[in-house]
Amino acid sequence: MRQIKIFDTTLRDGEQAPGASLDVEQKIKLAHRLAALGVDTIEPGFPISSPGDFQAVQRISREIEHVEICGFARAVKEDIDAAVRATQDAQRRRLHMFLSSSNIHLDFQLKKTRAEVVELARRMVSYAKSFVNEVEFSPMDATRTGDEFLFEVLEAVIEEGATILNIPDTVGFALPEEYGAMFTRVMKGVRGSDKVEFSAHCHNDLGMAVANSLAAIQAGVTHVEVTVNGIGERAGNCSLEELAMALATRSEHFGITTNIRHEEIYATSQMVSRMTRSPIAFNKPIIGRNAFQHEAGIHQDGLLKNRNTYEIMDPERLGIPRSMIVLGKHSGRHALRHRVAEFGVTLDNEQLDQLYTTFKEKADIQKTVHDHELMQMAGQAVDRALEPYTLNDVQIVTGNAMHRVASCEIQDHRTGKVEIYTGSGEGPVEAVVDAIRRAIPEPIEFADLELYSVSSGETSAGEANVTVRLDQKLYTGTATNRDILIAAAEAYMAACNRAVRDVRLDSSLEQTPVHTLG
Ligand code: KIV
Ligand code: ZN
Repeated sequence: MRQIKIFDTTLRDGEQAPGASLDVEQKIKLAHRLAALGVDTIEPGFPISSPGDFQAVQRISREIEHVEICGFARAVKEDIDAAVRATQDAQRRRLHMFLSSSNIHLDFQLKKTRAEVVELARRMVSYAKSFVNEVEFSPMDATRTGDEFLFEVLEAVIEEGATILNIPDTVGFALPEEYGAMFTRVMKGVRGSDKVEFSAHCHNDLGMAVANSLAAIQAGVTHVEVTVNGIGERAGNCSLEELAMALATRSEHFGITTNIRHEEIYATSQMVSRMTRSPIAFNKPIIGRNAFQHEAGIHQDGLLKNRNTYEIMDPERLGIPRSMIVLGKHSGRHALRHRVAEFGVTLDNEQLDQLYTTFKEKADIQKTVHDHELMQMAGQAVDRALEPYTLNDVQIVTGNAMHRVASCEIQDHRTGKVEIYTGSGEGPVEAVVDAIRRAIPEPIEFADLELYSVSSGETSAGEANVTVRLDQKLYTGTATNRDILIAAAEAYMAACNRAVRDVRLDSSLEQTPVHTLG
């Protein structure tokens, strides 16, 4: 197995995605996360671009051990000076310099001749080399440059001491066979190429960033530049998690390993998505919420028998906590029985038939049937409430001046009591959470809320996913409603019910070793 190095540029090229900018503290937190993920190099920013980026690169250089830190610079003395100073205290460091090489960039952006570009590249690489051993050079827009000039620039920077040649597909134009073949030609044809290492850097404008990076790996590059969730300029960069999992899942084909710890992928992806405010598409490979979910009855049936029937990776080994089965109109009896059993409820055939009929009616109207709805229907089938609490009614007073106030009518099925609880907060969700929390003795903490618009045509609806924490464990609840605040309230109630059921079941098991379900 050959090992390739993962160069993470989430905090530099990824941050160049519109609206994704990060402050110093966020970059430091993410850098620690990336180190835990096992990347080999972190490019934390562009030191000359702002005092904040300088500080971030400097602090990350001081704090993060055992990971190479890379300072980014144009072929300009002041940029190089800033990158050198910012990375001064890193245990291991690299300077990454870029300079355009395509005619279109030379004519319209740099307004320099080819001879001037070669001379500048030589002078600046030699200057950088007087401070730093590891100098990476990127001819920007390399894939639209043409071999003749590309070779000339690369030979010049090798002569001046560049150690890593990164050949970027800056505009995401290349096809996999072209990108791989370009590396093969460069490695054969460029004088001095045996003295340097090669790196790939791909953008995703045609959706080929991962395929192009894999082609470059097959051609012999030893470094690949990636971002978490594939964030970056325009359509983004090569996605770290997709590349890592393609190499791992098809290792018999590639024969390549990386230092990535797969079990850290999901947590890292979530943190990047939150901090950069870049939501993840539901169908995004590996980390999208549908990536390991199944709605079709035939698939669900297969999965329950053997996961490998419809899954090529194990989500749990990527740190993904999701349930694999989504209940909708395509789901069958087997999936329903299995799901209610996960809640500790066993149904006989007659009860299952009754549940199946009401479930199908509901699933025909709404796309997905959420767990708390299923449990209400299962409760009707077994003729008793299965959830610890039912949220009967929610009233919210909101506005733009005063505190928001909520009142919730909640039934406690342990005591049978129905009571009204009121709560307040700076926002309406906070008010609802405050009200519902008062009904439950367990110290449940609110951890997270995700809201999505799931509108179609003239009907608007919102979906809320709420996560709560109890005794260090996380529980989620999901609900959909025409009123997004009611969706949030129902999702919160559902998450609390899960948490309460779990801890109460645990403590009752401690008292009575034999527990009868159903
Ligand atoms: O896409 C690109 O060319 C880059 C650098 C390597 C300059 O991000
Ligand atoms: Zn780039």
